[in-house]
Amino acid sequence: MIEVREAEPGDRRETARIARRVNAAIQKVYQVQSSGSKQRFASTKHRQLVATVDGAIIGAAHIAHHGERTHLVGLFVDPDYHGCGVAGHLVEAVAQVARKRGAKRVTLRTVRETGNVHVFEQLGFEVIEEHETDTVQGAGGALLSETSMERLL
Ligand SMILES: CC(C)(COP(=O)(O)OP(=O)(O)OC[C@H]1O[C@@H](n2cnc3c(N)ncnc32)[C@H](O)[C@@H]1OP(=O)(O)O)[C@@H](O)C(=O)NCCC(=O)NCCS
Repeated sequence: MIEVREAEPGDRRETARIARRVNAAIQKVYQVQSSGSKQRFASTKHRQLVATVDGAIIGAAHIAHHGERTHLVGLFVDPDYHGCGVAGHLVEAVAQVARKRGAKRVTLRTVRETGNVHVFEQLGFEVIEEHETDTVQGAGGALLSETSMERLL
């Protein structure tokens, strides 16, 4: 059974291992060109939730609260568990945490060419803005689309 809980300091090694596996797959679609997003990621105080099966970590979500908006900074699932509903469990837990904080919506940004816009639409988000970006570069130098999405709570 998939469960979601707050991350603990001892989870870091395992979440980093999964993040490395996921990043290796993402880099086949695009590569980050600027350090902007990494700096934003490092400078904000995030809260992290982890998904587990039988106590083993299989995914994580990073969130940052901005008043009435909770931003889903990062979401990743162990490739061995893709398509099993793990992201769905994590997003529902994020929505619950956000509601408790008084947020009215959950927002995120993704790259359309990853196929994630469809995944997040299935999870209750809708596209609010999209533009070509030069902070990530696709295979062969192709321009990619950065998509902002939100889910109303
Ligand atoms: C995107 C990601 C988090 C989805 O996680 P997941 O646990 O596989 O997703 P779920 O199984 O909860 O699926 C959520 C919905 O998307 C659909 N979906 C998931 N993967 C899909 C795919 N490859 N193609 C089509 N639909 C897909 C599911 O059918 C489900 O819809 P449903 O609720 O109507 O059945 C995961 O693929 C991942 O870690 N990717 C790499 C990291 C990443 O890109 N993170 C997002 C950064 S913004």
